Amino acid sequence: MKNTKVILANRPKGEIEDTNFDIKIEELREIKDGEVLIKIYDISLDPAIRGWMNEGTTYIKGIEIGAVVRTFSAGKIIQSKNENFKEGNCVSGLLGAQNYCISNGEGLTLLDISSSKISHHLGVLGMPGMTAYFGLLKSGEPVSGDVVYISGAAGIVGSTVGQIAKIKGCTVIGSAGSDSKCKFLVEECGFDYAINYKTEDLNQKLKEYAPNGVHIYYDNVGGPTLDIALLNLARGARVVICGAISQYNDMANIYGPKNYMKIVTARGKMNGIIVFDYIEQWPAAVKEIANWINEGKIKVKEHSITGLDNFPSALKMLYTGENFGKLILNVHS
Ligand SMILES: NC(=O)c1ccc[n+]([C@@H]2O[C@H](COP(=O)([O-])OP(=O)(O)OC[C@H]3O[C@@H](n4cnc5c(N)ncnc54)[C@H](OP(=O)(O)O)[C@@H]3O)[C@@H](O)[C@H]2O)c1
Repeated sequence: MKNTKVILANRPKGEIEDTNFDIKIEELREIKDGEVLIKIYDISLDPAIRGWMNEGTTYIKGIEIGAVVRTFSAGKIIQSKNENFKEGNCVSGLLGAQNYCISNGEGLTLLDISSSKISHHLGVLGMPGMTAYFGLLKSGEPVSGDVVYISGAAGIVGSTVGQIAKIKGCTVIGSAGSDSKCKFLVEECGFDYAINYKTEDLNQKLKEYAPNGVHIYYDNVGGPTLDIALLNLARGARVVICGAISQYNDMANIYGPKNYMKIVTARGKMNGIIVFDYIEQWPAAVKEIANWINEGKIKVKEHSITGLDNFPSALKMLYTGENFGKLILNVHS
């Protein structure tokens, strides 16, 4: 059997280029005792991949040149010599951008797909959903009546944060880069207000929708957006630094917040969050989010692209805003 895989050919300087990747086809070896062979169905395209393509270590080591590009992926076990996993089990993990993966079982999560699509376990029931859940609840500490502002709101993290904040009784404002994304936030996700940051004045709109200030700012974007949010904090505000996608292509020249003294006058706090710190609590959070989806309280939008050849062009969509919903690459149907 042959495996097709996407390899990191060289590191991007600035924006991701197609030439940063190579496709390699190789013969799959036999699995050894303790191993499983996974047929991958879905690959998750996440903003963090841009950071993992850099040299060095942040919270996780950069991808080596020549290695399979690191991605969360999900699929089915088609051969098993590991007593913890059976043929037919669905699993997810850092399985990489490839058609098949041989694993010794370490880091694999068994998936219950009785009432959910396998791809949901890469999105709302996977790492991004966990980021929304723990970032908002543990770092944002929402209280009913709070005003929550979320940037990058139409993505899987942002839209899930907003819907959980609504469940917790908050007023929710989101910003996103198109009118159709804003319509989705209000009409489908139940946000109270949505701001198209490309065509509207973000500062003016925040002042209009949150005249007494924002109690929680959930930051997915960073840069000047964070600065504007800081201008609009309520007393005791919590700023959750989840990501800074506006900065990922030029981290050497990152735009730092100019308005950070607003944290002082607001008696606020600003916390970073890394989703992997909560990994032991993920199973309970997955159950709770799955219940909310079944009760119709959380809506999920996916954007699917087919074929490993499209990996580079699909990945680039995250940094231009062309994706609308959780970006998934289907590699087997
Ligand atoms: N800390 C953690 O543990 C952790 C874990 C997972 C994810 N994250 C972070 O969470 C954030 C959201 O991730 P996601 O998976 O939900 O991605 P996503 O929102 O589905 O996709 C990225 C979106 O970012 C927006 N964007 C891109 N460039 C931008 C810019 N220059 N200015 C403003 N918006 C821009 C685009 O939407 P528009 O059309 O609205 O511009 C794009 O669709 C990212 O920052 C990611 O790194 C953090």
